[in-house]
Amino acid sequence: MMKNTTMKKALCFDDVLLIPKRTFGGSRNKVDISTTICNCDMKIPIFSANMSTVTGVGMSVAMYQHGGLGILHRMCSIGEQIDMLCNIEGKIAFSGRLPVFVSIEGSKKGLERIQKINYLNPEGYCIDVAHADSPDIEDIVVEIVKEFPSIKLIIGNYCTSQGIDNLLNSVPHINFNNVAFKVGVGSGSCCTTRIVTGCGLPTLESIFRIRKDLTNNNLKLIADGGIKNSGDIVKALAAGADAVMLGSLLAGTKESPGNVIKYNGGLYKIFRGSASFGQKFEVGKEGFVEGEETLVPYKSQMTTTLTQLIEGIKSGFSYCGALNLEELRENSEFVEITNSGYKESTPHGT
Ligand code: XMP
Repeated sequence: MMKNTTMKKALCFDDVLLIPKRTFGGSRNKVDISTTICNCDMKIPIFSANMSTVTGVGMSVAMYQHGGLGILHRMCSIGEQIDMLCNIEGKIAFSGRLPVFVSIEGSKKGLERIQKINYLNPEGYCIDVAHADSPDIEDIVVEIVKEFPSIKLIIGNYCTSQGIDNLLNSVPHINFNNVAFKVGVGSGSCCTTRIVTGCGLPTLESIFRIRKDLTNNNLKLIADGGIKNSGDIVKALAAGADAVMLGSLLAGTKESPGNVIKYNGGLYKIFRGSASFGQKFEVGKEGFVEGEETLVPYKSQMTTTLTQLIEGIKSGFSYCGALNLEELRENSEFVEITNSGYKESTPHGT
């Protein structure tokens, strides 16, 4: 018997707008878009996605230099991850921990990666599974935290507060300041999860609901999947995210892994879903495919992309009369728009 007799509505980034509020006057450069995740102070609230065609050595270095953080992908052996970390270590000036997160499996293999990699002292680890609301993930987090009590963990992906509560109830001694939750199921630009499973929830809706339902307001959320522009980033932050994760927006840049491909007179790079056939084939794994592989236009240095995004985010804060993340959350007022409203929002002058 179906549990809910009424069908609930779920809104995506493009279904809503933020109503402009009285601004503070002066330049948008007054806006502070810094955030703190897992006790790491970040000048910009952006992580690069832990995908094999997004975050390797070059992207991790560039993200740190721009004030964000990279999450090194795990579509490789432990030895290759160690090589990447050593390479990053040699390319940046830093004090304390190596400013990069390392993606790991939500299984014994993930624990093994930590055991072998932790001597390099990365900032933290990201448990990377498509659907983290599972007893298996809770069991492995218990083991990880038992062996490494002060470890910093980004855990995901979730789309309900119940999933996060399940994890927290299983690991009651976890230090809340050392964890963050990655939110978004089936929204990624190369995802086919919703097509093949019929399951998922728009990232904006997930963030909004989780932030509203969580009793601990200080828990950190990272909006992941479906972010297409700086406007979507502002909406995600206003809805309750503390940072965002970007895949396709950073794919195709000079710093992303992979060669530039000449095709039909254009320049491209490969962008590969972590559960795509191509990705699984490359790492010698068979299995169910829930993602796509595609060519994305080559975008040259990511500084150009990131600078545009940062300016857009600051401008968005100023339209909301917010000087920082806290004020953005307090001031923001969303409205749902119609199809005509969406059309009006996109360029339509010609
Ligand atoms: P964007 O939209 O920024 O999304 O490109 C990046 C996020 O997409 C997720 N991801 C996948 N989801 N199948 C999926 O269902 C896949 O093959 C896949 N690969 C990546 C992931 O959360 C990433 O950060």
